Amino acid sequence: MKKTERLDKVLGHSGFGSRREIKELVRLGQVSVNAKRIKDSGVQVNPATDEILVNGEAAVYREYVYLMLHKPPGVVSATEDKKERTVIDLLGSGFDHLELFPVGRLDKDTEGLLLLTNDGKLTHQLLSPRKHVPKTYYADVEGTVTEEDIAQFLRGIELDDGYVTLPAELTIILRGEPNLGILSQIQVTIHEGKFHQIKRMFLAVGKNVVYLKRLSMGSLKLDDDLPIGEYRELSTDEVEALRNHEL
Ligand code: URA
Repeated sequence: MKKTERLDKVLGHSGFGSRREIKELVRLGQVSVNAKRIKDSGVQVNPATDEILVNGEAAVYREYVYLMLHKPPGVVSATEDKKERTVIDLLGSGFDHLELFPVGRLDKDTEGLLLLTNDGKLTHQLLSPRKHVPKTYYADVEGTVTEEDIAQFLRGIELDDGYVTLPAELTIILRGEPNLGILSQIQVTIHEGKFHQIKRMFLAVGKNVVYLKRLSMGSLKLDDDLPIGEYRELSTDEVEALRNHEL
């Protein structure tokens, strides 16, 4: 970690509000560093060794934040968008200025596990095509998913652009009966992350995904107790497991 940081950044990462709000706290004389009242929110401080107090409350600085979001449909996996609501818009104002971003993308209509963080190194590890981090999805699929589909997913599927996917593990939970209007229910694990990959894999075997939800990414599993649209911080064990490639 860099030794010194701007005071407003440190306070932003400690949950004391936006840069503007912090500037105001400083202006009002409510912030002290090593018992000295501070007048400039841009001053350099060392969060590891300096005692930073806001109205007597110690600022606990965290460089990195990791959130598990249960992504709802209808929001895009981006930090900003001119037209659409983004996953970042779902977060409370306490997360402003942490510069969180989604680790990879889920389609606008896809639900489920999305990791949000400001840890670029971990993000890079999780998204690196060389690491083959497994991602497991649940899907409802029109038509009857067959044993032959399972075998083809394992061999690799040629997508519409000619790319052949890495072996993917497909499990049938419920075999669909199109005549009776029953959808197939499946679980599938892929080891890469091509654009619209699951939907395109099923299209390649003549079937349409009508509902898609991500259940896990590497060692990280979507918390069953996390309501859709809600988020929670990862435990230190969850972060360590992701870091240590316990995939
Ligand atoms: N595959 C898809 O088709 N969509 C997603 O959102 C994720 C994987």
